Amino acid sequence: MNINDTPADTLAGLLGRGAPRAPDRASLEAWGQALGAVLPRASVIALLGDLGVGKTTLVRAICEGLGVFNPSAVTSPTFALIQEYASPLGRIVHADLYRLRSGAELEALGWDELVESAAVVLVEWPERVADTLSPDTITIELRHDPDHADRRSLSVRSAR
Ligand SMILES: Nc1ncnc2c1ncn2[C@@H]1O[C@H](COP(=O)(O)OP(=O)(O)O)[C@@H](O)[C@H]1O
Ligand SMILES: [Mg+2]
Repeated sequence: MNINDTPADTLAGLLGRGAPRAPDRASLEAWGQALGAVLPRASVIALLGDLGVGKTTLVRAICEGLGVFNPSAVTSPTFALIQEYASPLGRIVHADLYRLRSGAELEALGWDELVESAAVVLVEWPERVADTLSPDTITIELRHDPDHADRRSLSVRSAR
């Protein structure tokens, strides 16, 4: 069997044993790119973790894997709350809800319609919208490693 046909290169493989436990930046990015390359349309990814832990870094890598036409545009949308990127799959919605103040603000952003119409949704600080997200949401949590400034711990929860 060709090595590329092994389950490690499938979505389930990447989310399972293919997910790095203590990645440095380069291995987190490599994993994010591989994940983006196999994400099906209508995927929702929730990214948990403190400021500066690497959520936007991972979103950018996933967007590279998705083939987003201008991945350098993938920056923290902390002030805009939501950014959109064009990709071969369709519109990618990237939200950073750290500064979200209320459900009314979310409604004014047209959140439900955005999520419904997007090819892929990537959400930093998803706690505020947890009850609006599909049960199929892939949740990725990053944590700082107190012993290694250049590493993170990573865990994945997924119904898939
Ligand atoms: N192992 C690692 N994984 C991800 N980012 C890392 C890692 N090591 C160092 N970094 C750095 O940490 C910072 C993470 O910033 P960012 O992705 O904006 O975080 P967040 O979106 O969670 O606030 C970047 O400057 C990145 O280069
Ligand atoms: Mg960020």
